Amino acid sequence: MAHDTNLADTGDLIETPAVPREHFASRLGFILISAGCAIGLGNVWRFPYIAGEYGGAAFIVLYLIFLVILGLPVMVMEFAVGRASQRSAAQAFERLQPSGRWNWFSWWGYIGCMLLMMFYTTVCGWMLAYMAKMATGTFVGLDPDGVAGVFGAMLANPTEMIGWMLAVIVIGFFVCSLGLQKGVERITKVMMLCLLGVMALLVVRSVTLPGAAEGLAFYLVPDFGKMFAGGLPGFGDAVYAAMGQAFFTLSLGISAMEIFGSRIGKQNSLTGEALRICGLDTAVAILAGLIIFPACFAFSVAPDQGPSLVFVTLPNVFEQMPLGQLWGTLFFVFMSFAALSTIIAVFENLITFTMEKWDLTRREAIKRTAILVTVLSLPCALGFNLWAGVTIPGIGDIQSIEDFIVSNNLLPLGSLLYVVFCISKKGWGWNNFLAEADTGVGAKFPRWARGWLTFGLPALIIVIFIMGYVPKIMLWAGIG
Ligand code: ALA
Repeated sequence: MAHDTNLADTGDLIETPAVPREHFASRLGFILISAGCAIGLGNVWRFPYIAGEYGGAAFIVLYLIFLVILGLPVMVMEFAVGRASQRSAAQAFERLQPSGRWNWFSWWGYIGCMLLMMFYTTVCGWMLAYMAKMATGTFVGLDPDGVAGVFGAMLANPTEMIGWMLAVIVIGFFVCSLGLQKGVERITKVMMLCLLGVMALLVVRSVTLPGAAEGLAFYLVPDFGKMFAGGLPGFGDAVYAAMGQAFFTLSLGISAMEIFGSRIGKQNSLTGEALRICGLDTAVAILAGLIIFPACFAFSVAPDQGPSLVFVTLPNVFEQMPLGQLWGTLFFVFMSFAALSTIIAVFENLITFTMEKWDLTRREAIKRTAILVTVLSLPCALGFNLWAGVTIPGIGDIQSIEDFIVSNNLLPLGSLLYVVFCISKKGWGWNNFLAEADTGVGAKFPRWARGWLTFGLPALIIVIFIMGYVPKIMLWAGIG
């Protein structure tokens, strides 16, 4: 891997053709940062509660299928676009398709990453808040209503919500301000290794609790009956959730991964790298469930509580567990690291985009991006209290609206557009894509996948995308 160091990325210079692009210092750095961008709230918060709702292992099987047939190829495509162009989304498409036809697509990535951060900063703030609350014994001696009250009180308090959100933003931009190699790479690497270590500890603790076996069975023995319990529409919901999760967990379709391809050399094939990153991401998601479900069953707490699983159900579990304060704190360290690794990676993405789009120094780009992210994160934090009245029927509060725009629209459609760009002659084209993806040692992109990517994948995304809107449109139109 190249070791170019470019002052443009650490301080004052603007990157020019004469100044080499800064690459990651090591392959491990690239893999852990990309995995860090993927591993986040989607794995440790969303995946377990969705899996809990849709029948545990049966849902996991469905999710893994989508990961392989949808997520993996799109990740290879994002890396290929980044590595071939050696630019962020700001300039990648014009470099690879000089006709200018695709230039607009650069904004898709910027807006998508920004919208993701607009609610991610708030929810990541909850993780930091809970880490502090656990460590300082806020939940000690509380009954389940008391625990639920802590969460409710936090949401209702705009000062507390904005405070934690700002803490996340300051940490994220501080790490980015140290530079790509010295900040983002060094700190994310340490954080990801700690995350894996803490996770291993928590899994061992959870699966060895008396009564954990029932939770393991709920999570790991597929119950396809539960998936079909709601008939075909119920199965449709599960399919829709599994597809959404595959895109969300890998941060695909908004060029979040593309940037990391632009920071590596040609030594390793991109399919091999994407396989490693997907593997890490999936392992963390599945292991998060192995922490949560056995613990819930061991203490007779219902695991299918939806989004409040982590903030209400689990503090109750820790409350009953010997040394619960310690385990609870470690759990929220794990959650915070997962969320912060995504925050840092996506901030880095927004910063590089800003540098390249407007020819700015890194310092100036950080300043502008930090202000924008702070202002745009406010609606989500306020949406739980002062602006709680702002809702859309069938979608929900401000956080749900932002999540809906990103997860149900920008990620799947952006992924579809990546596929079109990489396959169509009117885009970058199949041969160019394939040559870039296959350069280097390691697994090659399967040729036979071309048919699937040309016809199957677009059809699947469009059908599932429409399916997601049908119930909402019926609701909005007052039908049924
Ligand atoms: N990929 C990120 C997550 O899973 C967005 O949270």
